[in-house]
Amino acid sequence: MSHPGIPSFNEANSAEMVAQRLLKAKAGPLPRFLATVVDHLHQIVRETRPTAADWRQAIAFLTEIGHASDDKRQEWVLLSDLLGVTALVEDINSRRPNGATPNTGRGPFYRTDAPRLPLGADISLDGVGAPLTVTGRVVDLDGMPVAGATVETWQANAQGFYENQQPDLQPEFNLRGVFTTDSDGRFHYRTVKPAGYGVPDDGPVGQMLGRLNYPLSRPAHLHFLIRANNFETLTTQVFERGDPRLSEDALFGVKPELVGDFKRAGNSWSLDFSFVMAMARKGSRAA
Ligand SMILES: [Fe+2]
Repeated sequence: MSHPGIPSFNEANSAEMVAQRLLKAKAGPLPRFLATVVDHLHQIVRETRPTAADWRQAIAFLTEIGHASDDKRQEWVLLSDLLGVTALVEDINSRRPNGATPNTGRGPFYRTDAPRLPLGADISLDGVGAPLTVTGRVVDLDGMPVAGATVETWQANAQGFYENQQPDLQPEFNLRGVFTTDSDGRFHYRTVKPAGYGVPDDGPVGQMLGRLNYPLSRPAHLHFLIRANNFETLTTQVFERGDPRLSEDALFGVKPELVGDFKRAGNSWSLDFSFVMAMARKGSRAA
């Protein structure tokens, strides 16, 4: 017996049938976004043709990710980071004119309350590691100095750990500081050379990708958050040119413009890096 009024769900029309329900139920961006997700998800299923057992396994994996996440640990963010989604969202939202220093992710170790320090201060509070002197300049797209810019920096220590990962081992605010550029747009401070580090590999995401020999570590880098009136806030990282993991950053944060030359002289190192800020666009958010 045929039922002409009842549409038949099949491989060819599945996504369309779901989309019709979504868009009929309510107007607005959420139903449209969900319809796009469904369209791609059904495409994946048609292409990879999982068995019902395969699909249950995929759902079990996603369930594990949820169970591994809480207010201290965000396994979903890790999955997004390691699959390049976080970097893609950042890239789409931070298009800059040619010549401006690009944004790259802020990462999970930023603290809003780092101390303001005078130029030349040493941010290594425990002195552990090879001394590194950082000099830098903040300029606009015409190369003119940006005076009075706020330069926040934070970094891992010589073992690859941030202060807030090791509250019992490192002094509070170790390797963090906020500086202000002088009238020539320059700043300088002392620190120690950071080490690269691995992302957490003890949860379901790290375990699964680790079994695939997927890159799970980051090259050595310094984080910067630079703010100045009338300029777009710059959130970025400067990576060490010689680091062997430069082309395989687990978080896809490395861009050619963000690679710096860490120069060695005896036991000490120096880095000089210029940041080029773009003017704030009308109507753009400050941060
Ligand atoms: Fe980092």
